[in-house]
Amino acid sequence: MVVVLNPKNTLLDRMFGRPRGLLGRIGGRLLATRGKRKMAEWVLSELDVEPTDHVIEIGFGPGIGIQSAAARTPDGFVAGVDYSEVMVELALNQNAEDVEAGNVELRFGSVDDLPYEDGTFDLAFSINSMQVWPNPIEGLEEIRRVLKPSGRVVLGFTPSAGQSSDELQPLLSDGGFDNIRIEEKEMGICAIASK
Ligand SMILES: C[S@@+](CC[C@H](N)C(=O)[O-])C[C@H]1O[C@@H](n2cnc3c(N)ncnc32)[C@H](O)[C@@H]1O
Repeated sequence: MVVVLNPKNTLLDRMFGRPRGLLGRIGGRLLATRGKRKMAEWVLSELDVEPTDHVIEIGFGPGIGIQSAAARTPDGFVAGVDYSEVMVELALNQNAEDVEAGNVELRFGSVDDLPYEDGTFDLAFSINSMQVWPNPIEGLEEIRRVLKPSGRVVLGFTPSAGQSSDELQPLLSDGGFDNIRIEEKEMGICAIASK
């Protein structure tokens, strides 16, 4: 059975949409499953990460994608922004060594106001998060702003996100992205685009 994360359902929103309080902590543990690492590996392989790349993840949740990205960028840098204090705390614990070493930086914030200068990152990704952003097009425009001119983005969704693949091309296009490609597997959907 697939439970769809409906952001309008308050209980699910508190657990997974923008996790907060005790329910958010329980949701964070549930989000950190083995399947999530497989999804993160797929997203990062579509992103074609180089060891020196500077990468940002939006809506990192418990920090599995951040961990996988840091393992692929030993000479680069990984930043993350998430709009849940509970998730920032969980992900800081999950990535404590890399944070201590200065290879990973995790911040509380929203996709529509990223705390980084224009053109900071080579690559950006987000997994199961865009469906709960207040305004996906504004979020995508903001991601585009912090990418370098040659930057690329990958949006990943497992079936539980309930994201229709048909919406992804127009959303990315309205957010200012080009060369949009949609890949679908049993594991979910990846939308790949460049600035
Ligand atoms: C369903 S969880 C997915 C977490 C993780 N990426 C995963 O796949 O396990 C959605 C995440 O998006 C974050 N989020 C929600 N609204 C956001 C926003 N406006 N800006 C940034 N992150 C947001 C939530 O706090 C949560 O961590």
